[in-house]
Amino acid sequence: TRVAIIGGGANGEHEVSLASAAAARAALDRDRYESVAFTIERDGGWLLDSRRVSFAEAVAELARCEIALPLVHGAPGEDGTLAALCELVGVPHVGSGIGAGALAIDKHATKLVAESVGLHTAAGALLTPATRDAYAWCGPVVVKPVTAGSSRGVTAVRAASDLPAALDAAFAWDARVLVEELVVGREIDIAVFESRGEPRISPPLEIRSEGFFDYDAKYGERHDSEVVFEVPARLTPLELRRLEQGALALYRALGCRGVARLDFFLTARGWVLNEVNTVPGFTAVSQVPQMFAAAGIPYSELLELLIDEALS
Ligand code: DAL
Ligand code: MG
Repeated sequence: TRVAIIGGGANGEHEVSLASAAAARAALDRDRYESVAFTIERDGGWLLDSRRVSFAEAVAELARCEIALPLVHGAPGEDGTLAALCELVGVPHVGSGIGAGALAIDKHATKLVAESVGLHTAAGALLTPATRDAYAWCGPVVVKPVTAGSSRGVTAVRAASDLPAALDAAFAWDARVLVEELVVGREIDIAVFESRGEPRISPPLEIRSEGFFDYDAKYGERHDSEVVFEVPARLTPLELRRLEQGALALYRALGCRGVARLDFFLTARGWVLNEVNTVPGFTAVSQVPQMFAAAGIPYSELLELLIDEALS
């Protein structure tokens, strides 16, 4: 089977996506799959292996593949654009389609859908350049671009005097910015992978980070020294049941396919949804591979399950 692995991307998660794609390529069983590496460069150009090609050539090569594995995190890519390309070209692809990608990349839209299935989300305001000056400080907040990933442009703000710089940082990534009450709670992720109506739900993973779990804590120097993942997260049976039910309901309401990782906080008032990733990190240090590994599904088997599901 000829598999197109698409990594990179013209956005702030370029390196993470390269790492996800490299890890996937290394893990694919060479006897069963022939992988073709597509890389989207920072400027939006395409590489086939390491050869720069025109977009038309990339599309023609993609059309010769039997299945695509889009591993571009962030937008454009995770927002449904790569799903759209695959669908137009007529190549089945792993993961969510256009609608779920577009909804889940938008943290504001995701919150509306989450609330519609009974999940709590952080209270907050949606700002644009036209409304940012009207925002009145009312305590510690997290400022985030509506569509960025890997915490790019995200700042936890504890003093009003730090708000303008945080807004500038977020608006540098997106024209819409969320200012949300800082949620105090445990940071716990869970992954859902539904195939033919049969949901597979990963064990929950708790992120224990000494500081804010930002880009550097995720992938940089602080990852090894400050971050610990605990799988399964220690939860009561009731907490676990509520988490699993909420995650599955939201995955279905968004119309996800393949694996999505849903990130929550466990607070004094119960579960609070943070966000949903339809192309969750697939590097060796990422949460999803670790969660499924803890459930007895190693990385290479997870990839095969995803490919089989997309081909079915
Ligand atoms: N956006 C990053 C890759 C993640 O969700 O893991
Ligand atoms: Mg994300």
